[in-house]
Amino acid sequence: PNLREDNLSEETKTLISSLPWEKDRLGKLYNYHGCWYYANTLQGVLNFQKGFKPQDTDIIIASLPKSGTTWLKALTFALLERSKNRSSDDPHSLLSNNPHGLVPFLEAVLYLKSSKPDLTKLSSSPRLLSTHMPLHTLQVPLKDSPCKIVYVCRNVKDVLVSQWYFRCAYSHKEVDKNILESLFESSCRGVGFYGPFWEHVLSYWKGSLDDSKHVLFMRYEDMKAEPFAQIKRLADFLGCPFTEEEEHSGSIDKILELCSLRNLSGLEINKTGKTENNVHYSNFFRKGEVGDSKNHLTPEMESKIDMIIGEKYKDSGLEF
Ligand code: A3P
Repeated sequence: PNLREDNLSEETKTLISSLPWEKDRLGKLYNYHGCWYYANTLQGVLNFQKGFKPQDTDIIIASLPKSGTTWLKALTFALLERSKNRSSDDPHSLLSNNPHGLVPFLEAVLYLKSSKPDLTKLSSSPRLLSTHMPLHTLQVPLKDSPCKIVYVCRNVKDVLVSQWYFRCAYSHKEVDKNILESLFESSCRGVGFYGPFWEHVLSYWKGSLDDSKHVLFMRYEDMKAEPFAQIKRLADFLGCPFTEEEEHSGSIDKILELCSLRNLSGLEINKTGKTENNVHYSNFFRKGEVGDSKNHLTPEMESKIDMIIGEKYKDSGLEF
């Protein structure tokens, strides 16, 4: 996260002074409507809630950071682009753009500094947008909009380890076990950027059960285990199912290959480019494995998280 606070309005400064807060290694987190944000992101959330005007065809990719957002953005973009006939002088946008450049974050990029950003540069229709906000916060300006929301959920143990690596890379630090331990400890207490993680996951899980036409709940682990079936599920949900001919002609495999970690991470743009907030694109690609947490969390840490998940997800029908 970019922690510069030069975007705060007087109104937000007043609001912040009345909010519960906690400090983590990066800075002060404020609890707004049940979710923790750094101050500048909170300003982005407020700007978004005030100014966002949904279009019926909007597609919003939602996730907790480090849950597979980059991958889902790439897949969704590629799905929607597939009908375009390309010539050799019109290469695929994913070859020269990072997925975060093609599917920008609402609160963290577009609305970070203003409630009336210029959205005309976005691909026209459908607009592809993204967020890390929990569903109840995202929905404030959506009202009865029929726009579609796709959530990607990942086992929180792997999310924690991925966050740890990302934070160390982001702050140009060596990977330091103390940082993992403090992330773990605060996440278990329900404190952390966009946390508590269980509230976040459950907001979208329940949303998908209540309104499966508009909220799709995907899992990183399923996408890894059965990518073919999951991308078909995504295409069906978005109303652009694969034809039989496409299925047989290898067009699904082509999209999966284009969006694979191996392919994306090897592209020049992703090796050398940076986000507007100065994060190297290369930091968004690491191992992309299921269960890497086993290599870093102690058995005690794992069983503590399992216990929390068991407790919080009990009766929700959500299993991990
Ligand atoms: P690891 O750190 O476990 O490797 P996000 O995109 O939400 O920031 O999540 C980043 C995680 O997704 C990282 O996990 C990263 O390696 C993985 N990832 C990025 N691109 C991917 C892709 N194309 N396929 C599978 N996993 C990918």
